[in-house]
Amino acid sequence: QQQAAESLYILNQFAQRYFSRVLKEDEEGQAVGMSYLEERGFNPAILEKFQIGYCKEDRKAFVTEALREQYNPELLVKSGLAAVRNDDLVDNYRGRIIFPVHNTNGKVLGFGARIIRKNDKAPKYINTPENEIYLKSRILYGMYFARQSVDKLDECLLVEGYTDVVSLHQAGIENVVASGGTSLTTDQIRLVRKYTDNLTIIYDGDAAGIKAALRGLDMALEEGLNVKLVLIPDKEDPDSYVNKVGAAAFRDFVSGNKKDFILFQLEVALKDAGNDSIKKATVVNQIAETLSRINKAEDFTRQQDYIRQCAGLLQIDEAGLIHLVNKFIR
Ligand code: CTP
Ligand code: MN
Ligand code: MN
Ligand code: MN
Ligand code: MN
Repeated sequence: QQQAAESLYILNQFAQRYFSRVLKEDEEGQAVGMSYLEERGFNPAILEKFQIGYCKEDRKAFVTEALREQYNPELLVKSGLAAVRNDDLVDNYRGRIIFPVHNTNGKVLGFGARIIRKNDKAPKYINTPENEIYLKSRILYGMYFARQSVDKLDECLLVEGYTDVVSLHQAGIENVVASGGTSLTTDQIRLVRKYTDNLTIIYDGDAAGIKAALRGLDMALEEGLNVKLVLIPDKEDPDSYVNKVGAAAFRDFVSGNKKDFILFQLEVALKDAGNDSIKKATVVNQIAETLSRINKAEDFTRQQDYIRQCAGLLQIDEAGLIHLVNKFIR
């Protein structure tokens, strides 16, 4: 196990260096990979910092190099860098931009590989499969580059994707990590909590973005995080939006549109319920359950604040809400 982990780290470092070199020095790397990244507005310094690379379209350009360096074929498959096709070992990330995924010490755990040429059949991203070192539920992309800034600013921004993290860094916003578009896990929340108690989720304003964000809420509250939410306007994500409006306007947008997550959830639910008294009763119950999750001794004042604000939004009696919240506390 330990041995396998060590071998994977060594192979990943070799692969990261290879893909970076191809992006910068290889003819196809420059013509296809670098042109694509330049067109998207990424500058050379940021590509260097995030160790971004390119995997050639050739069937097995990387595999050939790795085998020449005596890397074990089974390890190549386990790492996700290679796949078996018709009894042959081939590159798994052919024709893709390579985003290395680091642990908090800067070691490469795996890769996210984005397709360049549009193709209906191929997935947009291929990610490293679960193995001894790539444990998706424990990883937040970019934490290695974000942690100092998160600690200093006492706030962690959470976005969906690789390109969102890299573009925000380029814009000078460095306290940012990505979840990969899925809802947060307890381990990821604990990783954030090593550096700060304040999490600001910046997701697409589309329904899927809001849903994904809401799913992480209850767990984040139980772990004692203060969660805020910023929704990016239609059809944009943080990467496209910062490229569109610029760094300063992006910062202003974030600070001007931060909503407390619990109050946001309540507003959405209330709008949904309208004048339906049965639906409204359900909303009251749901918010009481949510509020019950922040009943940890040290968060008592925070809970009281929320109860006051929620009772106001719901236009119900504060004492009644307190009573209901207490019923959910086990
Ligand atoms: N993702 C993934 N597999 C996919 C699609 C998405 O793992 N097939 C993850 C990636 O981490 C991706 C994130 O979900 O970065 C957000 O997805 P999406 O918004 O579709 O991609 P972007 O990050 O915006 O990438 P791009 O701007 O290059 O389209
Ligand atoms: Mn701190
Ligand atoms: Mn989306
Ligand atoms: Mn995008
Ligand atoms: Mn996106």
